Amino acid sequence: MTLGDVSGGLGGPADLRALARVRDACDVILVGAGTVRDESYPPYPGGETRQQQRLAKGLAPRPPIAMVTRTGRLPDGHPLVADPQRPPIVIVAGADEAAARSALASTPAGPGIRWIVAGDDTLDWRGALDGLAALGLPRISCEGGPGINGALLEAGLIDEVFLTLAPALVGGEGLRLTSTREPARRTELTLVSALTHGSELLLRYRRDTSADAAASR
Ligand SMILES: NC(=O)c1ccc[n+]([C@@H]2O[C@H](COP(=O)([O-])OP(=O)(O)OC[C@H]3O[C@@H](n4cnc5c(N)ncnc54)[C@H](OP(=O)(O)O)[C@@H]3O)[C@@H](O)[C@H]2O)c1
Repeated sequence: MTLGDVSGGLGGPADLRALARVRDACDVILVGAGTVRDESYPPYPGGETRQQQRLAKGLAPRPPIAMVTRTGRLPDGHPLVADPQRPPIVIVAGADEAAARSALASTPAGPGIRWIVAGDDTLDWRGALDGLAALGLPRISCEGGPGINGALLEAGLIDEVFLTLAPALVGGEGLRLTSTREPARRTELTLVSALTHGSELLLRYRRDTSADAAASR
């Protein structure tokens, strides 16, 4: 969901803190190129204190950003590829690798980009996540957008969902949380926690694997 084409205006300060906490517990932030383009995604923005807290938990001070793309297309000067010291990881299918490499090669971060090539003609999502694990990055905070969320849903690769209900109504034609090629089907979730901050509701769900097992019988 977006307001003025970005998600930033939807949640309040508690939502931003919740997002920061998830980011601060992960090894890598996974995001689609559409969101990277629309939201001017920078590398992890956590300052010194958050980095020290991550180190104390045995994590790297800054989780890298892993961008999924077919084209590698980003606007000139995009912050994700502006810093040679903090290059992203880029995830592509084999058929798209050459074009994506060519699009990103001349960016300041280009030479330092780590590439994960998963699948031949189309992206193999399980292979992509295995590729992150092989880099020592198994705990993934996926930040969308809906296309990436939907692909992970179809591949059965979503474990948890952090959902904030912001106390506002907005119109428009926003996408769902998960957008899939196949018709919608239910994936059951179990509520893990529900926090309130004013009228904002911060929900954490875990995928109900017992429901998955029952459905496959
Ligand atoms: N409310 C929220 O919390 C929230 C969170 C995140 C995003 N959003 C919003 O969602 C919108 C973007 O969503 P979106 O669904 O259009 O974009 P997206 O899911 O972020 O990214 C779509 C892009 O990812 C790449 N991609 C997708 N599937 C792929 C595959 N199978 N193999 C290789 N690359 C693949 C393609 O990149 P290329 O085009 O580069 O090939 C595709 O155009 C933005 O407006 C953003 O603000 C909202």
